Amino acid sequence: MHRRSLLMGFGGLAVLVGAGGAGLHAATGSSGAYGRYSTILRSIPIDFAVPELIRLATLAANSHNTQPWRFQVAETAINILPDLSRATPVVDPDNHHLFLSLGCAAENLVIAGAAIGVHGVLESNPDGSLRYSYGLGTPQPDPLLQAIAQRQTTRALYDGQPVPASDLDTLRQAAETDGVRLIIIEERARINQIRDLVVAGNEVQMQDPAFRAEIKTWLRFNPRSAMATGDGLYAPASGNPTLPDFAGRLAFDAFFTASGENDKYAKQIDSSSGIAIFLAERADIQSWIRVGRACQRFALTATMLGLKHAFINQPVEVARLRPELASLVGEPGLRPDIVMRFGHGPQMPYSLRRPVPAVMT
Ligand SMILES: Cc1cc2nc3c(=O)[nH]c(=O)nc-3n(C[C@H](O)[C@H](O)[C@H](O)COP(=O)(O)O)c2cc1C
Repeated sequence: MHRRSLLMGFGGLAVLVGAGGAGLHAATGSSGAYGRYSTILRSIPIDFAVPELIRLATLAANSHNTQPWRFQVAETAINILPDLSRATPVVDPDNHHLFLSLGCAAENLVIAGAAIGVHGVLESNPDGSLRYSYGLGTPQPDPLLQAIAQRQTTRALYDGQPVPASDLDTLRQAAETDGVRLIIIEERARINQIRDLVVAGNEVQMQDPAFRAEIKTWLRFNPRSAMATGDGLYAPASGNPTLPDFAGRLAFDAFFTASGENDKYAKQIDSSSGIAIFLAERADIQSWIRVGRACQRFALTATMLGLKHAFINQPVEVARLRPELASLVGEPGLRPDIVMRFGHGPQMPYSLRRPVPAVMT
């Protein structure tokens, strides 16, 4: 189904449901309350406080916004532990995305820590747990601190304009990490090859009832349900209208189709300036964490430069497409970890996070 039909489908349902007036409002919650939640969540602390630092860490990119982490506070250290109860076994059977998400959060912690005067060392263990040992020092102002609050995964059409070479150099340098390779593709013919793989992966996923069922459990169709859980994929953040939960689930079953989503992804990639692919030199938990750190730094730097980004990980998630993707980017034999498009695009509504006490252990 065409993207427009999808929106009309969702929108038509919204209009029908909207005939309920006050009832609709009660069922969806208010966008004003959502905005207030989001603003507080994304404020920049003036002074150092451990809960504030943890809040900034949780603003990191993470798969399906499950926020698969727990934070444990010691005297001069913060431990980040994997929360396997928040795994997504269908899309991520070996917890690759989960550990990568932990790396994203760890990178936010390190950047925010130094910027607000908590300098530390991050150590990762083979089981995927991380320890940030810190001491208080002088704050080192860093524009990436603001970017932590501003960054979002922007699932929208971009304007297709090229990114200046100097910005691409800045992105490359920012993401440079031992054991992680970053390939940036700007040539349209090569972008098209990646696009075709994303669409092929999407086709496989959309035909898989288990994939559909899993993603459905993480969708939040309105402010009320997004604020109730503080997690998940907020429909308006992807350009879909607000709906009561029951109508959202109906709309998902009716309008979330392979052809509609394939068409949407193809257009979004066509509108992007480039694609970044991250590949670790080794396929193990600590390497995935390193990729998470590199890709979070890339995303924050892009944000600082006024660029948007969005993950298009289908050819990573569908295992049989990985070798073709690796060959396409000149890295045969490596397992690709992240595929991310970037360019200039609009601001979309933010997704939420759980309150800090909910992620403490
Ligand atoms: C490892 C990883 C894989 C992801 N894969 C996808 C993806 O395939 N498609 C997508 O739209 N977003 C993907 N995301 C983005 C998350 O859905 C997003 O970070 C999360 O919903 C929170 O939203 P935010 O980034 O706007 O804060 C991925 C993020 C991570 C860290």
